[in-house]
Amino acid sequence: DTAAVNPHNAKTTDLAPDTVDASGAYMNTNQGVRISDDENSLKAGSRGPSLLEDFILREKITHFDHERIPERVVHARGSAAHGVFKVYQSQAAITSAAFLQHPEEETPVFVRFSTVAGSRGSTDLARDVRGFAVKFYTQEGNFDLVGNNMPVFFIQDAIKFPDLIHAVKPEPDNEIPQAASAHDTFWDFISLMPESTHMVMWLMSDRAIPRSYRMMEGFGVHTFRFVNAEGVSSFVKFHWKPLLGVHSVAWDEAQNISGKDPDYHRRDLWNAIESGNFPEWELGIQVVPEADEHKFEFDLLDPTKIIPEELVPVQRIGKLTLNRNPDNFFAETEQVAFHVGHIVPGIDFTNDPLLQGRLFSYTDTQLIRLGGPNFHEIPINRPVVPVYNNQRDGYMRQTINKGKTSYSPNSLGGGCPFMAGKMQGGFTSYPERIEAHKIRERSRSFFDHFSQAKLFYNSQSEPEKNHIIDAFSFELGKVQAVPVRERMLRLLAEVDSGLAAQVAYALRLHIPKNSEEPLNKSIPADADPAAYQPEHKESS
Ligand code: HEM
Repeated sequence: DTAAVNPHNAKTTDLAPDTVDASGAYMNTNQGVRISDDENSLKAGSRGPSLLEDFILREKITHFDHERIPERVVHARGSAAHGVFKVYQSQAAITSAAFLQHPEEETPVFVRFSTVAGSRGSTDLARDVRGFAVKFYTQEGNFDLVGNNMPVFFIQDAIKFPDLIHAVKPEPDNEIPQAASAHDTFWDFISLMPESTHMVMWLMSDRAIPRSYRMMEGFGVHTFRFVNAEGVSSFVKFHWKPLLGVHSVAWDEAQNISGKDPDYHRRDLWNAIESGNFPEWELGIQVVPEADEHKFEFDLLDPTKIIPEELVPVQRIGKLTLNRNPDNFFAETEQVAFHVGHIVPGIDFTNDPLLQGRLFSYTDTQLIRLGGPNFHEIPINRPVVPVYNNQRDGYMRQTINKGKTSYSPNSLGGGCPFMAGKMQGGFTSYPERIEAHKIRERSRSFFDHFSQAKLFYNSQSEPEKNHIIDAFSFELGKVQAVPVRERMLRLLAEVDSGLAAQVAYALRLHIPKNSEEPLNKSIPADADPAAYQPEHKESS
């Protein structure tokens, strides 16, 4: 009983008028006409032929014929749940975001977990990144934290995203393999993209095969901004810390489970919530004052880097509880539209070039996936606050806007007059000062691709390291192209010579020494190598 679990949830109330329970009702057509027989089509005589006139048959078949929409281009396989978020204490000192002010206030949320590469029907147990997307239905509009279960990403610039996904998806000639990274195209791309080294260390670790969605961390990945009521900004990284701890399965276990129950994670999440074992996460933040932007050896705008927790501790500021399964997979889990660009006053973007590209991509893809410009009106997507503006019309428009005017300014009344949004507490972008040349170039502060990969490897226990070695050996063992394997060995040698040696042994290959090909293609050929060595790398 939803109401018992969650009596004051604004989103539950919002969804109620659109939620239908047909038990005990008479069946009728989409036009509301009572149906007398749902077993037989209208025929000329009991042995046919069927008659074109049968609007009941036609309507039923037509609707069925149109039941499918395109799956998401990435993160197609997912499972979701409703819940609530509560902040522990006011964060007013660093952000004016209303949902982070009052410990007694509950903000409804909808959370979708996903794999990245597989299609809608693929196994939950694939070695893959997991999506961790949270939609907060706040009193100031929707805030989406569209993160992953790993804190870094493969690429530094969104312009490489289509290439990354083309490399990881099934190969175009034979659509093999369905949902794994073990193939030539993926490793070919990775071996040519040294910036992905840190991320592939995570991907070959146990983090890529979670025991349960309930036992995964989540990360916003990019550095975002918080802005307080005085307009003072700080940089922030978002974390989700599962209260059940972080747990994984070993590769053999994963393959076993996958064969027996490819819905394993979906079933686990559903059953936990059905039985009242509500999964919980704490929201963690790492906050860096604006003045410290350039204090680190890495660039805060580089999405292939973490801020080590030793440098900036994670403060736990609130709790997320998932307490209700969706009523309808398609209407909710499939039609939900997350977007990293859905932010509220008090939160803002940074110039991370991966984030900047994402800001375009999500709405663009949802326009086609969800059939036009009105998908914000779909019940799961609409905010819990009313929407007033002069946007009108388009496919599947639901809202009936009254009045003669749909423009501003107007002197005739009606429409939606613009009322100095700033005065009303509306969103204002942080007025960051930018003075720059317009150029197509990677920042030199993004060039160190190996220090944090090394940091990650060294943070692992011996059994965890062995799992990483086994994962690389297995994955690269599937790669047919020997030059791809060799390039990967050269990259691994930059991370850890022992790791590279053990994988090379498993592959029966030598680590190539004096290759002509530069490993780090992002560094210009004429550059002084010393300029790109971070200090701690030399001392390690
Ligand atoms: C979907 C995370 C990078 C494009 C998703 C989803 C997540 C996610 C969690 C699934 C949302 C859902 O459950 O519906 C991330 C993270 C990234 C990243 C953490 C890097 C830090 C990118 C980039 C692009 C991109 C660089 C494009 C330039 C998309 C698209 C979808 C998607 C097109 C499908 C959305 C839909 O159909 O509704 N991403 N993503 N992502 N992402 Fe990303």
